[in-house]
Amino acid sequence: MDKKIIIFDTTLRDGEQSLQASLTVSEKIQIALALERLGVDVIEAGFPISSPGDFKSIQSISKIIKKSQICSLARCLPEDIDIAARAMERAINFRIHLFLGTSNLHIFSKLKKSFNEIMDMAVSSIMRAKKYTTNIEFSCEDAGRTSLDNLCKIVETVIKAGATTINIPDTVGYTTPTQFKKIISTLFNRVKNINQAIISVHCHNDLGMAVGNSISAIEAGAMQIEGTINGLGERAGNTALEEVIMALDIHKKKFNKYTNINLKEIYRTSKIVSQFCNMPIPINKAIVGKNAFLHSSGIHQDGVLKNRENYEIINPNSIGLNTCKLNLTSRSGRAAIEYHMKEMGYKNSDYNLNELYIDFLKLADKKGQIFDYDLEALAFFKKQQNIEEYFKLEYFDVQTKLSGLSVASIILMCGAQTNIQKATTSNGPVDAIYQALNKATLYPIILKKFHLEANGEGKDALGKVDIVVQYKLRNFHGVGLATDIIEASAQAMINVLNYIWKSKQVNKELEKKNNI
Ligand code: KIV
Ligand code: ZN
Repeated sequence: MDKKIIIFDTTLRDGEQSLQASLTVSEKIQIALALERLGVDVIEAGFPISSPGDFKSIQSISKIIKKSQICSLARCLPEDIDIAARAMERAINFRIHLFLGTSNLHIFSKLKKSFNEIMDMAVSSIMRAKKYTTNIEFSCEDAGRTSLDNLCKIVETVIKAGATTINIPDTVGYTTPTQFKKIISTLFNRVKNINQAIISVHCHNDLGMAVGNSISAIEAGAMQIEGTINGLGERAGNTALEEVIMALDIHKKKFNKYTNINLKEIYRTSKIVSQFCNMPIPINKAIVGKNAFLHSSGIHQDGVLKNRENYEIINPNSIGLNTCKLNLTSRSGRAAIEYHMKEMGYKNSDYNLNELYIDFLKLADKKGQIFDYDLEALAFFKKQQNIEEYFKLEYFDVQTKLSGLSVASIILMCGAQTNIQKATTSNGPVDAIYQALNKATLYPIILKKFHLEANGEGKDALGKVDIVVQYKLRNFHGVGLATDIIEASAQAMINVLNYIWKSKQVNKELEKKNNI
């Protein structure tokens, strides 16, 4: 049996479809590049029929990614398949991923068809996909609740029709590891042509068993694991890939399997996904949570000091968790910044040294000492706030007091020429600033989410604000980072306002093009 486990990442598809605010094309590209650096074998880049934005992102990712295979999801419908192929036509290596419900529940109450009709749809869709590629994955949606007889029948039929990867999803996270292992073993025992395809699994986490089920499937012979970074995904999420990868690594003697993953990229990839997706990582999350390598009790601390292995099964350095603390000040030069970014694993092309140096000097003036996480956050935020700056906050002042109103005044630059001055009162300083900005732009927005967290440690930490704002039924995500949490909050709103402004420009251009 092949020893390699194929890692199939669906952060940009299953993960993205669960987010409050969709990712922009440039955010998806950044994530795809991080996944490629991590070494995932397949990147499921989206579901192109679902929106023009998804189609465009898949097209762009297909042009940029060189090493990982690109995959697009399609229902068993001709237009889905054609559009999936079109979105990936520039990819070096691509896969069409077909899916169709196979449980009685899905067949009768969702698709309103018979099992035989489902079999026919599956076969004709594989035939259509074969016009474009021989790399075809077929997913038996809701396989976890499909009768074993029907599952064996459909798997045998789709392999015969030409599907090269067969995915067995536990779509609603219903099974337990013993049950799921039995499903996979039954397929290996009963399906005659099973060895002509790669068997894959895709587990959801509704009962908290996604990773356990994936591991039990490997024990039964599965060769591809689908999942997402940090376990993002529909409802309770998907299999957290970093957990499966580390379980295989820690128990390599037992499993006798390997992956192509560059373990040192795990921590960084997890952070990138968390920040772009605006999905904070729970502090006690396995592998990548803040507390995953922290020892609190005296007995544990003593044990670790004597021998790390007393209480640690994973060396944090092995997943790229950087424990070095820099100590840069405003007297440090450009070369020092470049050197330390390199030490942290960043290539020159990952950031703009000139911009980073200017931001570093501003921060060093305010903060004194700059640590590794500050430098990383500055470089990262520049990328995340990567949008034309039409609105700029020229000035703000907020007065606030215990049991009284807060008063905010602002000067907002709108383009290079115009500036608008506004003042408002509210029951809190952030709301006062947000209302003043609202008065200046007159955009009918609704604040849906406000999240503030400390980036760094102790009193020197930077304030990081993530907000989600609804504008005309579309959600926009904005970020802000500053030593002052009011400034970080204002920056996050300015970031959103610039996204809204940009989307209005794009719409105007489309209207002009279509002569509406
Ligand atoms: O959960 C699921 O069944 C899916 C399929 C589309 C593979 O996401
Ligand atoms: Zn899924």
